[in-house]
Amino acid sequence: MKEIEQRILALTEKVYPQVVEIRRTIHANPELAFEEKETAALVAKTLKAAGVDVKEGVARTGVLGSIKGKRTGKIIALRSDMDALPITEATGLPFASKNAGKMHACGHDAHTAIGLGAAMVLAELRNEISGEVRFIFQPSEERNPGGAPFMIEAGALEGVSEIYGLHVLSQADAGTVGFCQGEMMASADELYITIRGKSGHGARPQHTIDPVVTTAQVILGLQTLISRNLDPFAHGVITIGSVHGGFAPNIIPTEVKLVGTLRSMSKEWREYAHKRVHEIIEGIAHSAGCEADVHIDLGYPVLRNSDAETIFAAECAEQLLGADRVFQAERLMGAEDFAYYLEKVPGTFYRLGIRNTAQGITADIHNDHFTIDESSLKAGVAMQVYLAIRGLARLSE
Ligand code: NI
Repeated sequence: MKEIEQRILALTEKVYPQVVEIRRTIHANPELAFEEKETAALVAKTLKAAGVDVKEGVARTGVLGSIKGKRTGKIIALRSDMDALPITEATGLPFASKNAGKMHACGHDAHTAIGLGAAMVLAELRNEISGEVRFIFQPSEERNPGGAPFMIEAGALEGVSEIYGLHVLSQADAGTVGFCQGEMMASADELYITIRGKSGHGARPQHTIDPVVTTAQVILGLQTLISRNLDPFAHGVITIGSVHGGFAPNIIPTEVKLVGTLRSMSKEWREYAHKRVHEIIEGIAHSAGCEADVHIDLGYPVLRNSDAETIFAAECAEQLLGADRVFQAERLMGAEDFAYYLEKVPGTFYRLGIRNTAQGITADIHNDHFTIDESSLKAGVAMQVYLAIRGLARLSE
């Protein structure tokens, strides 16, 4: 192994106890989207202590950090998200959430600790940096419209050539990392639908316009979006997760309200699907004499990892951690606001395995028993550092 890899791994070991301590502090004090005040203060304090230039209050609770290398060059951004979820923790860990109803059940505590660990290591490797490393600590990944677009608006990507970010994965062993070229995560839009008819007696439907029967047709009709309008080799999903209407067995109500989610793996099909959602709902409703109100609340876009940077990052992982610790990451229909950064600059979003079956660490994210094998933090820190150093060297060639 070359010298730089050894130095990165040794420095990662050195900062590891502090990274664990930071992760536990953040874990015990979770804050929800756009409320990450204490977390942001801890981030800023830790960065300053490491000698990193800091900008606070970006997009409300976001923090930007910057390390300029000895040589001038391009800028690579490393991103961490800081928010927790509205879940009551049930892990019983000594550092479990002290904030009732809030929990770091998506590993953003680990992401933030990894970002800080990477900053501490990179601060000691300034001489190896050809350019600048920008640290993005963003608020609100969990809640639409997400913190990423606001960070971008506030200039987080100004001058940035590439960006790298990671997310914990409960389905892979601690210390492994997974990469996926191209579209990895879905766009997620919310559907708010009202089908309006004319109410009346359940025994005299001929004098009414029944929105319930029409709703049943609409729900089934919407499934043809996937079965008839989507290329069988492509991916998409539509789910109506909530139906509300009526209150008595013998009364046909005035209206029924539906709420659902629409997910796609391509920008083009997403736009087409929006058009079809309107056509299907309005067409079915009108044929029954109902009125339809369709509102599509735009969520995160499709997350697309750029080809060259994903191949580069996977090669880096093989060199730093060994090929046996690198896996092919699966595509997911979940959404992630890192997608906004990747719409602007090339880069990759990769998976960090955190499972430890022997220790019973297997719970999935967004579960009240979710936790991580903390030894995985080392792979996260070392990878982010290595991507920044190698990436900048590659850009200055
Ligand atoms: Ni997450």
